[in-house]
Amino acid sequence: FYRRVVSPGCSNFLLLGPSGAGKTALFSLLEAKTSHLSKRTSQLTHTSQTSTVATIALPPSIPTASNRYRSVNDPSLKEISRNPIKYRLKDTPGHGKLRESQGLSQLLLMSKSKEPNTRLRGVIFVVDTAALSEDEALRDTASYLHDVLLILQKRALNRGKSSSKLATEIPVLVAANKQDLFTALPPGSVREKLQAEIDRIRKTKSKGLMDAGAVDTEEDILGNDDGLDNFSFKLLEDEVGVTVDVIGGAVKEDNKEDLGSGVQKWEEWIGMCL
Ligand code: GTP
Ligand code: MG
Repeated sequence: FYRRVVSPGCSNFLLLGPSGAGKTALFSLLEAKTSHLSKRTSQLTHTSQTSTVATIALPPSIPTASNRYRSVNDPSLKEISRNPIKYRLKDTPGHGKLRESQGLSQLLLMSKSKEPNTRLRGVIFVVDTAALSEDEALRDTASYLHDVLLILQKRALNRGKSSSKLATEIPVLVAANKQDLFTALPPGSVREKLQAEIDRIRKTKSKGLMDAGAVDTEEDILGNDDGLDNFSFKLLEDEVGVTVDVIGGAVKEDNKEDLGSGVQKWEEWIGMCL
């Protein structure tokens, strides 16, 4: 029988996250790796004001969901090295004033698309783990992530109603970046801090809605419940089906064997979406 090895249409991934988290640095690194440009140029970036798209090649060593069981002798491996699996990545500006008009509206648009070619496969939410110990950065990051997850929750609940079970939920990778810095929080505490802060945000929102006399507000509350229990990513997965993985890495340390895992674990996450 005939099995297709080459890229399944073109899958789209969206880079979101607050300003300074490292989205453009990651975007440029993956782009440079794809075009086999110098492997270790220091990425000079500046605050982004517009969105940018690039087609990125998944390194042949990274398994995908459809080929993870292949053996090393599989002849398709050679084919993959010659013709790597590609995906489209979109970098967005994270500045607070541009989120509504760029990141969040891109997410709304792309997550609604039914075309296989423009369909959104996953969201990569980049976080500066060295900044999260400051309250203001934590609040800013968590409120952006809250808004992203709420959009995905609404999509998931709507899909359930229209019984169009064809497309699956859009998963979120929280890329816990800058693990090379000694002030960086480990991914486990990043997860806990974000969950706790999102919990605060949704409790405030839930109370606001109830005080305003709104009924049937569960869909507007992240986790699709009354917001009285504690929020966790596990709750979101159980109640809504949207998964969130928090995985550490560092754009700066890619290709240095002695330090960190660079961006490989994120590429593995992308591979599992393909
Ligand atoms: P906006 O475009 O404003 O939304 O920000 P951004 O998310 O695109 O951030 P950007 O990629 O411009 O990175 C901000 C700064 O963080 C830059 O100076 C990067 O060099 C630096 N940076 C990115 N990744 C890492 C990392 O893994 N470790 C360290 N130490 N610095 C990093
Ligand atoms: Mg940028």
